[in-house]
Amino acid sequence: MKLYLAPMDGVVDWVMRDLLTRIGGIDQCVTEFIRVVDVVYPDHVFYKRCPELKTGGKTASGTPVFVQILGGQAEPMALNALKAIELGAIGIDINFGCPAKTVNRNDGGATLLKSCDRINDIVKSVKKRMPDHIPLTVKIRLGYDTASKCIDIAKSIEDAGADLLTIHCRTKMDGYKPPAYWDWIPKIREHVKMDLVVNGDIWNLEDYKKCQDLTGESQFMVGRGAVADPFIFQKIKGAYFENSWMDTKKLLPTFFESSYQFHSENFAITRTKQWLKSLSLSYPEASSIFQNVKTITTGNEFIDKLQNLTNQ
Ligand SMILES: Cc1cc2nc3c(=O)[nH]c(=O)nc-3n(C[C@H](O)[C@H](O)[C@H](O)COP(=O)(O)O)c2cc1C
Repeated sequence: MKLYLAPMDGVVDWVMRDLLTRIGGIDQCVTEFIRVVDVVYPDHVFYKRCPELKTGGKTASGTPVFVQILGGQAEPMALNALKAIELGAIGIDINFGCPAKTVNRNDGGATLLKSCDRINDIVKSVKKRMPDHIPLTVKIRLGYDTASKCIDIAKSIEDAGADLLTIHCRTKMDGYKPPAYWDWIPKIREHVKMDLVVNGDIWNLEDYKKCQDLTGESQFMVGRGAVADPFIFQKIKGAYFENSWMDTKKLLPTFFESSYQFHSENFAITRTKQWLKSLSLSYPEASSIFQNVKTITTGNEFIDKLQNLTNQ
């Protein structure tokens, strides 16, 4: 079994990847997307999204991190992929799943799912330019407004030479509305041989078991479920049976301090509040901490309160 931490723009940055991969259970990560238009970006753009480029493309605990790019033009996508590799990327991921209006309006993300030919062309062009030993992975949704073309989409990605395909089991129009349609995976599997990673709505061990049962697959990606419960990967792997709130709460001051160091005071306050809200989905105790810190706007007061509340 292989487990992936989902890329989440504005949520899973370097600090979150570092923290979650230290816990264990995660086999691979993907960065937040880099939106490619028509230029090759300077180094700092790649380093900002993926500071791990400076440490062999892996997190401190040794988990590989692929750099994700998003865009609709084959040539600049290929050139930016090459640039990321030159800077140390150990794998590239292409995002054809982003549902954001501004992204789709600018010919990126899920809007590409309307055309198998365009997807095929982009993946082929990027793959052709990449060195053979660097893997190219692709992330999609089931389709734009219907899942009816998902088999053709998957086939076009396999045909283009991608090494692995992650499928978020919803269309763009489904947004994030439950359920995720895992039942499409066995239908897609009948037509493609490539590695597939199943994604969408795995919030806990029970969801994982259902998803595994229904799909028969061995690779899964978890996003929101991972920020709601940082121990989910270890639980899925049968390596953690403790009271996870006791361990989770200890992560909060570290997260705040790393976010402060890596970005700024305001960033750290905002992200820690955001994380507490996500944690509240799994742990009522996090909701009570959130209520206690939600109006705090200075770093010193925030960390004092956080330390106090998480030491109890
Ligand atoms: C806030 C947020 C940001 C996201 N950003 C990205 C992104 O940068 N790249 C990407 O491929 N998917 C992105 N996604 C989609 C997730 O990777 C994942 O496919 C989706 O959340 C479904 O998985 P989950 O139910 O385990 O969260 C994002 C999702 C959320 C909620």
